[in-house]
Amino acid sequence: MKQLILIIMCVLSTTLTYAQEKRVMVAYFSCTGNTETVAKAIAQATDATLYRIQPQTVYSSADLDWRDKESRSSKEMGDAASRPALADKNAKAETYDVIFLGYPIWWNLCPRIINTFIESYTLDGKTVIPFATSGSSTIENSVKELKEQYGKINWHTGKLFNDGSAGVKKWAEETVAAQN
Ligand SMILES: Cc1cc2nc3c(=O)[nH]c(=O)nc-3n(C[C@H](O)[C@H](O)[C@H](O)COP(=O)(O)O)c2cc1C
Repeated sequence: MKQLILIIMCVLSTTLTYAQEKRVMVAYFSCTGNTETVAKAIAQATDATLYRIQPQTVYSSADLDWRDKESRSSKEMGDAASRPALADKNAKAETYDVIFLGYPIWWNLCPRIINTFIESYTLDGKTVIPFATSGSSTIENSVKELKEQYGKINWHTGKLFNDGSAGVKKWAEETVAAQN
């Protein structure tokens, strides 16, 4: 009997230790708050570190005018090599095992600042779970492009959330549990 209890305690402690080993971060970019709402709900559900990806120069509403071909966002999205500068590079992304990466869909893609973020850290071999908000577009095309651009990252299929934080908690908890 004593031996059985000992074995159960060993198994339990190994499981708990392993579960705690996965360090989770939620990194997100958001200009008008939609993606931020989802990011905060994921971080709360998974007890993850929340990190806001901020541009060196904040986007004004004129910068975000997608109807204007000359706006900052139109120019950036029209140039695949554009890499808008970050306000800081303090995410310490290398120290996390699982990274939720959130962004608004811009022109059916992720904003170029997401490329700047990815290229500012060494994420090869890490699990990155994209999530996004949009007017109506799906997340698929943006994830397809990210997979092609950064093939050494272990990309999750990702998820679009266009109803605020509805459904986020369950999805985030299940997604993290599946990584352990
Ligand atoms: C420059 C720009 C381009 C956009 N392109 C798309 C798009 O291609 N498809 C879409 O459904 N929504 C598009 N949107 C809408 C945003 O994806 C949507 O409003 C998003 O929820 C904004 O997120 P945020 O509040 O976190 O910034 C675009 C918005 C901007 C500013």
